[in-house]
Amino acid sequence: MTATYLQGDLAPVPDEIDAVDLPVTGTLPPALTGRYLRNGPNPLPGQDPGHWFAGEGMIHGVRLRDGRAEWYRNRWVRSRHMDGVPFVGTDGVDLTALPVNTHVIRHAGRTLALVEQGLPYEIGGELQTLGPCDFGGRLTTAMTAHPKEDPRTGELHFFGYGFAPPYLTYHRLDAAGELVESRVVEVPGSTMMHDFAVTEHYVVWLDLPVVFDLGLLGDGMPYRWDDGYGARLGVMPRDGDGPVRWFEIDPCYVFHVGNAREDAAGRVVLDAVRHAPDRFTRLWRRIGGATDPAAHAPGGALHRWTLDPATGAVTEERIDDRTVEFPTIDDRRTGLPNRHVYAVAGEEIVKYDVVTGASRTHRVGASPGEAVFVPADPEAGGDDDHGWLLTIVGSRAELLVLDAADLSPVASVRLPRRVPAGFHGSWMPDE
Ligand SMILES: [Fe+2]
Repeated sequence: MTATYLQGDLAPVPDEIDAVDLPVTGTLPPALTGRYLRNGPNPLPGQDPGHWFAGEGMIHGVRLRDGRAEWYRNRWVRSRHMDGVPFVGTDGVDLTALPVNTHVIRHAGRTLALVEQGLPYEIGGELQTLGPCDFGGRLTTAMTAHPKEDPRTGELHFFGYGFAPPYLTYHRLDAAGELVESRVVEVPGSTMMHDFAVTEHYVVWLDLPVVFDLGLLGDGMPYRWDDGYGARLGVMPRDGDGPVRWFEIDPCYVFHVGNAREDAAGRVVLDAVRHAPDRFTRLWRRIGGATDPAAHAPGGALHRWTLDPATGAVTEERIDDRTVEFPTIDDRRTGLPNRHVYAVAGEEIVKYDVVTGASRTHRVGASPGEAVFVPADPEAGGDDDHGWLLTIVGSRAELLVLDAADLSPVASVRLPRRVPAGFHGSWMPDE
């Protein structure tokens, strides 16, 4: 039987194609001139990688210019894993030998495809794979798929986690893309740390009870829930002046952060999608291919943790009851006060006002992917809903553009064929 992660919206496409002059319904804003790239798993024809997260990476790209959709193309990220090189060999792990399937970003002139247990791969303007990137030999750990660019400095903050000590290492690129800092962070063990956060003065760690299990290697993804690990959020001074302050929280898992910021009292406020333990376990079995009814994938809900580095106090509150994932913001607000968070809830795009608690939705009528915010006036510093949301509605072979202010559809680009549901992507304006 075909595995669940090879069926329906997740079914891979068999090849790489190109299309030009794509049909557009509505009006594409001329300011949308650049490329939208999105990464996701796409196993090779005939392959069953054993887990949704383990398929070879494929990038789908759409080129927009002056109100036209110039091209679509899709390309596998040709990592050494695709050449059959083993991730775990006799010499240890090879950080270039993993499917690179999770995100694609641009920083300091480089386009990087990312997967959290491995090295990034640099991607060219036609989506061709240029090769692994270790920043001139300086990066000796993996690199998270969710780095954070500081909009004030242009620095890129990220981390790498490993199966053996050091389990967690913080890294920083300067605005020119040079790796200028690597700092080991002490944690009790190797966990699946998918995301993190930064604020003006801190890095925020998610040390949560989904642990690496050597016994699961070769069986999909080698991670499982562990009641004994505990759950902690860590607040680490960015400047290295002082230790990490850890806050015990109710056990949960967080794949994705919306944003973090500091409030007027100096507390760290973290908005993220929280998965309760039972829900995480069911979701994890489901995306690993389990088909029994208990292996259901209901998802998580937007929560807020408020952490006080001065007192050690932590509070947790549920912002909304909807089941959501893929939270996004205006990236110009990363680590700073933001007003809006966007997310995907089934067949809807949700827009939260995290200041007032209000929300609104747009029903797409099919499952949209992550909605990426593009500011209408990138230099003018407008509101964080003055712009557009770009999302691939894969089953409808569509790139949908919504007005971020009221979620009304602005334009729809017809893609040449369906796009498998995937993970994360970025808008890359022309420079
Ligand atoms: Fe992610």
